[in-house]
Amino acid sequence: KSLKSYNTFRIDVSAKHFTEIFSEKDLIELLTSDPAIDQDLLVLGGGSNVLFTRDFEGLVIKVSIPGISSVVDGNEVIVTAGAGVVWSDFVNYCVENGFAGVENLSLIPGTVGASPIQNIGAYGVEVKDIFSSCTAYEIATGIPRHFNFEDCKFGYRDSIFKNELKGRYIITSVSFKLSKSARLNTHYGAIQDELKSRGILDPNIADISKVVSQIRVSKLPDPSTIGNAGSFFKNPVIDKNLFEKILDQYPDIVHFPVANDRIKLAAGWLIEHCGFKGIIVGNTGTWKNQALVLVNHGHATGQEVYSFSEQIINSVDAKFGVRLEREVNIL
Ligand code: FAD
Ligand code: EPU
Repeated sequence: KSLKSYNTFRIDVSAKHFTEIFSEKDLIELLTSDPAIDQDLLVLGGGSNVLFTRDFEGLVIKVSIPGISSVVDGNEVIVTAGAGVVWSDFVNYCVENGFAGVENLSLIPGTVGASPIQNIGAYGVEVKDIFSSCTAYEIATGIPRHFNFEDCKFGYRDSIFKNELKGRYIITSVSFKLSKSARLNTHYGAIQDELKSRGILDPNIADISKVVSQIRVSKLPDPSTIGNAGSFFKNPVIDKNLFEKILDQYPDIVHFPVANDRIKLAAGWLIEHCGFKGIIVGNTGTWKNQALVLVNHGHATGQEVYSFSEQIINSVDAKFGVRLEREVNIL
């Protein structure tokens, strides 16, 4: 089966076997009876954080488990969504019902089930800030397990599901803890600028959702017209000594202090300063408004995008002495 319409990079590869699950029951049946389960498995949500570099010789399981429900307890609301719910639909459901906490994560592509995997984040909020728990099935046994906040070991674009438990569990639902009274997070300069330019002095969560969506549309390519998977690399976190050396040479470098005396650099800035912003290399390149986003100009192969990313890593390393790490899952 062609996977072209199942990955936002729109890479034209195929899967040897493909199945879609719509319930936990489907999953249990699959894990306990399907002989194809002995092969390589790939769990796919919206395919918005993957780069396929070759055909997949095993079984792709597309998770399409639906459903959103909420339980209000005083000021707190627990919203539970099926892993296949489109992330943006979940955010809109919360915003429309006045459930605060997730509005800064508006318009991120993908599914609810993938959101804890890399602890998605944007504009000062990460999934870990609202995560309550999730249910996931162990692939080897078909046994369900409940993961609470501590279990997940969230970090910047990181969780237990990318480390110790990589490839071992399939998330079927996620519960989030939201609030009926908003504590808005408007620290980001871009949010403040956009609110000001719209004359919004006393924003509500719907305003924040709109403003964040507007900022995202202006910076990021729309995967429905140009293939991409968002930021291709993570923003590197480096130690102070290295940072001070770089700062000597590049006093205007974009940087943010983080915990333990370490500094986070903007990978987009580093890539731009290596001359890569908006360039086209064959069928691939970087986005004109955001050098951190690699794109498919129509007929790129995953290998081509991967080689280009290698070139970027080497250039940034040669110029700044910093090695970028890929954020996108390479398959
Ligand atoms: P997929 O790409 O299908 O899968 C991603 C990984 O999760 C794979 O390893 C897959 O095996 C695993 N996985 C998926 N579903 C499950 C499941 N149910 N159980 C177990 N494992 C699973 N990310 C951000 O954090 N912040 C952003 O601001 C952001 N902006 C983006 C903008 C654009 C234009 C694009 C295209 C992407 C952006 N991303 C961003 C990346 C992407 O939206 C997120 O990583 C998202 O969570 C991926 O969801 P998905 O369902 O498409 O996952
Ligand atoms: N910058 C440049 N040149 C560029 C791109 C960015 O100089 O080509 C500078 C900007 O001027 C800004 C800084 O870098 O000063 C940061 O840029 P931006 O606000 O666009 O955010 P980012 O750090 O590039 C991160 C996330 C995004 C998330 C935004 C908003 C990572 C890897 N990326 O990008 O997430 O939406 O912040 O919070 O952390 C994703 O994960 O796919 C993704 C899009």
